[in-house]
Amino acid sequence: MNRVYIKTYGCQMNERDSEQVAVDLRNRGYSIVPHEDEADIVLLNTCSVRDQAEQKAIGKAGHLAVRKRKDPNFVLGILGCMAQNRGSELLDRLPDLDLVAGTQKFHRVPDHLDNLIASMNGQGPRPSSIIDLEEEAGSQNTINAHKPGERQVSAFVSIMQGCNMKCTFCIVPKTRGPERARPIDDIVAEVEELVANGTREVTLLGQIVSSYGRREIPFADKKSPFVQLLERLNAVEGLERIRFTSPHPRGFKDDLVQAYGELSKLCEYVHLPVQSGSDSILKAMNRPYTSGRYMELINDLRAVQPDIHISTDIIVGFPGESEEDFQLTCDLFKEAAFDMAFIFKYSPRSGTPAAELEDNVPQSVKDDRNQVLLRLLEQQSLRRNNSLVGTVQEILVEGPARKGEGMYMGRTRGFRKVIFPGSERLVGELVPVRIDESSVTTLKGQLEIVGVA
Ligand code: SAH
Ligand code: F3S
Repeated sequence: MNRVYIKTYGCQMNERDSEQVAVDLRNRGYSIVPHEDEADIVLLNTCSVRDQAEQKAIGKAGHLAVRKRKDPNFVLGILGCMAQNRGSELLDRLPDLDLVAGTQKFHRVPDHLDNLIASMNGQGPRPSSIIDLEEEAGSQNTINAHKPGERQVSAFVSIMQGCNMKCTFCIVPKTRGPERARPIDDIVAEVEELVANGTREVTLLGQIVSSYGRREIPFADKKSPFVQLLERLNAVEGLERIRFTSPHPRGFKDDLVQAYGELSKLCEYVHLPVQSGSDSILKAMNRPYTSGRYMELINDLRAVQPDIHISTDIIVGFPGESEEDFQLTCDLFKEAAFDMAFIFKYSPRSGTPAAELEDNVPQSVKDDRNQVLLRLLEQQSLRRNNSLVGTVQEILVEGPARKGEGMYMGRTRGFRKVIFPGSERLVGELVPVRIDESSVTTLKGQLEIVGVA
């Protein structure tokens, strides 16, 4: 009765939340299983950012509901963003759901499951669905633990929840609520514990990390709370690499740019969502910067760190996006020379300001623009990867590669994936690898034997 399968949709934040739920459930005596067939309880941790993501989870829940009808002791729950976004309306659509828990309620999941199971066993009132979607002060501080005894070479660390930006297309402020930061000391303690368990790299997560702590924590020495946090983490002994996702161009001030020159562990990689290269579309999106300002920021970063790898998010087909607007996005895409990008087709989200506008770019045009940018991305990514052939890169070895006997996988500081012949004892180590082959997504190489001429 206590085997749980958790399926996660969406972003890294969701992955991290699922990891926390798994830790909490294990501590409560549940076991986490890798396949849904083995599970008595299935939890879907969901995403609302685009309609497609919601439809996928609803479809899955529909299938699982069939099983629930055959086996009344089977427990089915929906967690996270779609739970928050759709709330009790989900029950109209999926009356067999046992649990609907929002984005501030992950830590309540063990209690809810205990109660559901107790009532199914006849030890409590007749089971009815549990819906838990309230805001909860301090909930950001509950995403703080990792699997004990299990080494994560690279780990996610949630530093804040929510977003106050109100981009007109975005459902996240509704699903994740207002910005709430965790204290610096708590985050440092979490990272120190990870490092004691063998972690070498952390990726700091938040919807808008450049705003981290701006209400709670004062500037110190002209440095924003986020840069103060980076400095503290840079000093953690045994930690080798720091990454974060995602900052906002608006909050990306000079102290953060300079951090790339000053903090040795901050990797030469930044994911900086631009969304569009057209100033009028940026304005309609309520993204408070111009393409010119964005390029300035990119150039400032390259001045401090010439080899920095830059990735971005782009939305094509926002209401009113003309051919000229799209062309400006292509121009910026080339000028910024992005070597990674997530390109999304605009999807109206009910309740957001943009949903009031007519979704007037035809699907076929969205598809075309998406393809154009994907092709550009392929070219740029390949060009960048080709430029690394012949160089020796510092690789953090994460584990065996999915394919190929004796092959191991790691990443460069610039976040490029590298496959090379290695061995188990290298996992968690930083090793020099000479790159001898490249494709759009992957580099291949050989360990560089230091000291042999
Ligand atoms: N600041 C967040 C953004 C979350 S949404 C972060 O941590 O990255 C991730 C990306 O999804 C956004 O940057 C945007 O490019 C895309 N997106 C958000 N809402 C969208 C919508 N309604 N339609 C299409 N893409 C969307
Ligand atoms: Fe969404 Fe914009 Fe915040 S994309 S998460 S409202 S910065």
